[in-house]
Amino acid sequence: MDEKAIEKKTIFSGIQPSGELTLGSYLGAIKNWVELSDTYNCYYCIVDMHAITVRQNPSDLRRRTLHQLAQYIACGLDPMKNTIFIQSHVPAHAELAWVLNCYTMFGELSRMTQFKDKSAKNADNINAGLFTYPALMAADILLYQTDLVPVGEDQKQHVEITRDIAQRFNGVYGEVFRLPEPYIPKVGARIMSLTSPENKMSKSDKDPGGCIYIMQSPDDITRCFKRAVTDCETCVRFDPSDKPGVSNLMQIYSVATGASFGEIEKEFEGKGYGDFKVKVGESVVELLRPIREEAERLIADKTYLESIYKEGAEKASRASAKILRKVYKKIGFVER
Ligand code: TYM
Repeated sequence: MDEKAIEKKTIFSGIQPSGELTLGSYLGAIKNWVELSDTYNCYYCIVDMHAITVRQNPSDLRRRTLHQLAQYIACGLDPMKNTIFIQSHVPAHAELAWVLNCYTMFGELSRMTQFKDKSAKNADNINAGLFTYPALMAADILLYQTDLVPVGEDQKQHVEITRDIAQRFNGVYGEVFRLPEPYIPKVGARIMSLTSPENKMSKSDKDPGGCIYIMQSPDDITRCFKRAVTDCETCVRFDPSDKPGVSNLMQIYSVATGASFGEIEKEFEGKGYGDFKVKVGESVVELLRPIREEAERLIADKTYLESIYKEGAEKASRASAKILRKVYKKIGFVER
């Protein structure tokens, strides 16, 4: 077999350290990162530069960035097999983002759902970074000639604009960037809040019972699931438009246990929601327990974490330098 045929395809994905990691980001993204990590050449990033588009407390941001690194590893991402790094440690991201800003249109940025949501939530701080966020995200992805971007449903639009920007650039300068595809799981791509299941589970959720965090204690998790909003029927059936609460719990249970919706409906036939909610809570407690315990151990080992993010930044810098040099040459910058 020739070398090209056995060359692994590339994955890039990232999560903002703007809050504690949630069950939503675990099921929608990280779980798939782990599953894909054997067959792809993977770059998994902690996107701290994206996080400052919303005001952050500096010491919280620093702590959460390191905790997120520990949690990535605890979730099963082997730092020997994957490149795990902090975005601000690889300046090429900011450098390519500036170039791509000049190939991204005001009109297309105005249509971004995340921009509209975040500017509504942060009306006193609608800054330029929040608006041009997609150009930085496009830089993250395009710097590594990424084939696949495993994300939850809410990030699909950002991967699409990345493709548009890449195509526009390639249209002017030839085939510089590879066009990435989003990878969105069939189940778990949009985990909803436990208390208002019409809204996405989100780390910025003001209602403490609506969002489950990877590091939450088993007692807290159990309590949140017992209080989860359902409906006035007593029938466990998958129907997201009529039964958003129950369908959300079914999704969570399905991803946590591997059971299909049909199997779940059968398991809880004739049983009340009380039993069902306890069982879903237990499945999440057991899913997260080993991750939390391992993350706690790693968080205490600062030297180890430092060695991982330093090595990750070196590998990512080496991998991204080539494409940045090519872009600079194509657009007419004099070589350094
Ligand atoms: P972020 O930090 O909001 O979310 C991280 C990842 O978790 C997924 N996710 C969910 N999936 C299912 N249900 C939920 N309730 C849920 N909440 C979050 C998100 O879809 C995402 O995959 N812009 C990105 C970060 C980013 C990025 C990148 C991602 C920056 N550069 C390059 C991929 C590639 C974001 O805000 O994700």
